[in-house]
Amino acid sequence: MLQGRKILLIVSGSVAAFKALMLVRLLRAEGAAVRAVLTAGGARFVTKEALAAITGEHVSDDLWAAEAEIGHIRLARWADAVVVAPASASRLAQMAQGLAEDLAGCILLATRAPVLVAPAMNPAMWAHAATAANVASLKARGVRFVGPEDGPMAEPESGPGRLSEPEQMADAVRSLLSDGPMKGRHIVVTAGPTQEPIDPVRYISNRSSGKQGYAIAAALSALGARVTLVSGPTNLAAPAGVALVRIESARDMLAACEAALPADAAIFAAAVADWRVAQEATQKLKKEPGAAAPTLTMALNPDILATVSKHAQRPRLVVGFAAETEHVVEHARQKLERKGCDWIVANDVSGDVFGGERNTVHLVTRTGVEDWPEMPKGEVATRLAARVAAFFQ
Ligand code: CTP
Repeated sequence: MLQGRKILLIVSGSVAAFKALMLVRLLRAEGAAVRAVLTAGGARFVTKEALAAITGEHVSDDLWAAEAEIGHIRLARWADAVVVAPASASRLAQMAQGLAEDLAGCILLATRAPVLVAPAMNPAMWAHAATAANVASLKARGVRFVGPEDGPMAEPESGPGRLSEPEQMADAVRSLLSDGPMKGRHIVVTAGPTQEPIDPVRYISNRSSGKQGYAIAAALSALGARVTLVSGPTNLAAPAGVALVRIESARDMLAACEAALPADAAIFAAAVADWRVAQEATQKLKKEPGAAAPTLTMALNPDILATVSKHAQRPRLVVGFAAETEHVVEHARQKLERKGCDWIVANDVSGDVFGGERNTVHLVTRTGVEDWPEMPKGEVATRLAARVAAFFQ
């Protein structure tokens, strides 16, 4: 599907830069033409010769030399997509500032092609407020992200900051260049459970696996949408090309959803805890000998679906989920009215839906009901994504 597509790969400084070579192989195997630009930092980790050999093209690494050869404007215009992999913290900062001090910086300012960034850095650098602000500002400008992943780093350390695997980066490039029906649309999806803290070590949560929401995010991304997936704690990896925002509590999930607006559609597949502990203890609750068990007073959590449904920046299509064990469609209709959304995917949870692989749903809209047969969660996602795409036709 990448046949004839022209991809400009910017390799900046990270020990993970070797994965960029593997990415080039995957892209070329699908028929893409790849040209590489090596930054000064990138050249510390991979050689110009290795990139030239693997791309089959001359590699540009110097702004002034490039001017004599092809010129940054022509390189920027040549590309159907610009991929920055790995993107160091410094490269993200330069991009956010619009600095044009080297060839990569000039190309990134001059290009009109979509830009995909695959960050790679130490977890502390990724977590820093400065990096977070740079990422937010790039996302707001439509730059797409893949990763970083959570996992072991080159240093004996582990955490988010690891460069995505070449296959995931290739998936994200495919999604970036997709001519799918959702191209140019931004969709917010919520998934997984929320965790409501009792004290610093305890929380209340539920058994949601997040599988359905992650599958929906992946299906929409495959149709070319830019997807922001706001997820509670799960064991799932971010689907390729999807911007994953990890949160814990319902209040954090609401803040992350509001921060992700504007969006064309929002799909609320998360199993949000209805209540939180009214007063989260700042210190661990201790069991004093002979003392009575503590009593937890609960407070109602904000309803994220209902809040976004009446938000000033309300997406055109708002889709909720309903978990019901009886009178499935009737309850879903009431929920649709009560929450002010457009569709409800009513989930029959009388079986082993939570954590299971299959789902039986009814799509309840303002005009009717579609009964879908029992099917794998991946297929529910594909079908829902197709219905969303049809809505925007
Ligand atoms: N939802 C939400 N914020 C909440 C609670 C729920 O966004 N605080 C969303 C869920 O993501 C889902 C829908 O609202 O899309 C589910 O509504 P909910 O009222 O929780 O219904 P059920 O879980 O189906 O259960 P019940 O009606 O029994 O409360």
